[in-house]
Amino acid sequence: MAHDSTREGASVTIRPASTVGGVVRIPGDKSISHRYAMLAAIAEGVSRFHNFSAARDCASTLNCVAKLGSAWKQLDDGAIEVQGVGPRLRPPSEPLDCGNSGSTMRMLSGLLAAQSDAFTLVGDASLSRRPMERIRKPLAQMGAHLELTEGHAPITIQGAPLTAIDYTTPIPSAQVKTALLFAGLQASGTTTIRESVRTRDHGELALRAFGATLERTLDSVSIAGGQALRAIEAAIPGDISSAAFFLCAAALFPGSNLIFDALGLNPTRATLLDVLTALGAHIGVLNLEDKHGELVGVVQVNAPPQGLTGTTISGALSAQLIDELPVLAAIGPWTQNGIRIRDAKELRVKESDRIALIAANLRAMGADVEEFDDGLDIPGGQTLHGAEIDSGGDHRIAMAFSVAALRATGDTLIRGAESAAISFPEFFDLLDRIAER
Ligand code: S3P
Repeated sequence: MAHDSTREGASVTIRPASTVGGVVRIPGDKSISHRYAMLAAIAEGVSRFHNFSAARDCASTLNCVAKLGSAWKQLDDGAIEVQGVGPRLRPPSEPLDCGNSGSTMRMLSGLLAAQSDAFTLVGDASLSRRPMERIRKPLAQMGAHLELTEGHAPITIQGAPLTAIDYTTPIPSAQVKTALLFAGLQASGTTTIRESVRTRDHGELALRAFGATLERTLDSVSIAGGQALRAIEAAIPGDISSAAFFLCAAALFPGSNLIFDALGLNPTRATLLDVLTALGAHIGVLNLEDKHGELVGVVQVNAPPQGLTGTTISGALSAQLIDELPVLAAIGPWTQNGIRIRDAKELRVKESDRIALIAANLRAMGADVEEFDDGLDIPGGQTLHGAEIDSGGDHRIAMAFSVAALRATGDTLIRGAESAAISFPEFFDLLDRIAER
């Protein structure tokens, strides 16, 4: 295997590969890491996390909880220890900087709304454009005082005693659901959140792991306020949304053989495996284990010799695959019948307008693609050439097009490649390791 991506400042050049193979261990899940760090802060005792995500987004969360009085440190073996301060956090002396992380800003808002102090949450330019009314509205119904800046960050919160609500989320969002669970934990009465699509349930599982009791039905979750949390020690499963780039690369290249060790397989996150199987990829799952309610296992992927078929992703599937859609779109041209994506308007309000950037970058590589308000049509049976990719500073766009670049003819320059560190700092090293040339 050659070491073949060239890095210069913010750009990376990707050379085509002949196939991909090897055994990889993907760093800890970002969604779980955020939630564990926040709950550890308000738990009694010291929590210890192995394989905590090295994502810059999770560092934003750790730095915020430190400013709220919950000190953390990294141990020699790489584990992260977070000192819980119990239910009452310390008022910070400066604004809480959430960086690029929507998860940090939205979930922390839920945690802080019930505290009795004042807080200001700020973010970078991308985060400051993202919609925050979706958390302000239900939290205000609970009695919280949140002020937004024209619907966005900066957010100021004047903590207040909260009262439970029964709330149906209008847009499927695990961040909003978790923010309300964190607020509900500190409210008087029992808060119920109902959702039409079951979004990732790491908030529910993490609360249980820290000792809270929750009630769940197929489409709702309820939490009684006033429950105390206690510290835990946990190993965080590999992030399947990071693995997605390599899962898709392995599904794309005939002759591939990629094995993922200790990968998170929570059913609310593993829809990509069903889609890749439907496209014809061979996926094996072994050694399933339960870690604090989270399913973990070994996954092996081989591409079908005849290539991938094609599919339409719409409705609930689009919500469940929201972070994986960029890479599925990026491999779409090589499928036989193409990839159609609908009901994915949320992609337009992620770290970038992902629908627009996917379309522009696929076209730059020579593909035919049609853009819709809520999705894309990517016809199959196409071959792409190397090009200059504009990631728009969006980590998932940079990584998705690095995968497309492996199969393109000629070299591809990924601009803004450093953004990969937002969720997956190890991405380019691992890509070099699995790419055979
Ligand atoms: C996340 C939920 C999703 C996802 C994001 C992480 C989470 O966002 O896109 O990367 O950890 O809850 P939404 O809740 O906005 O859909």
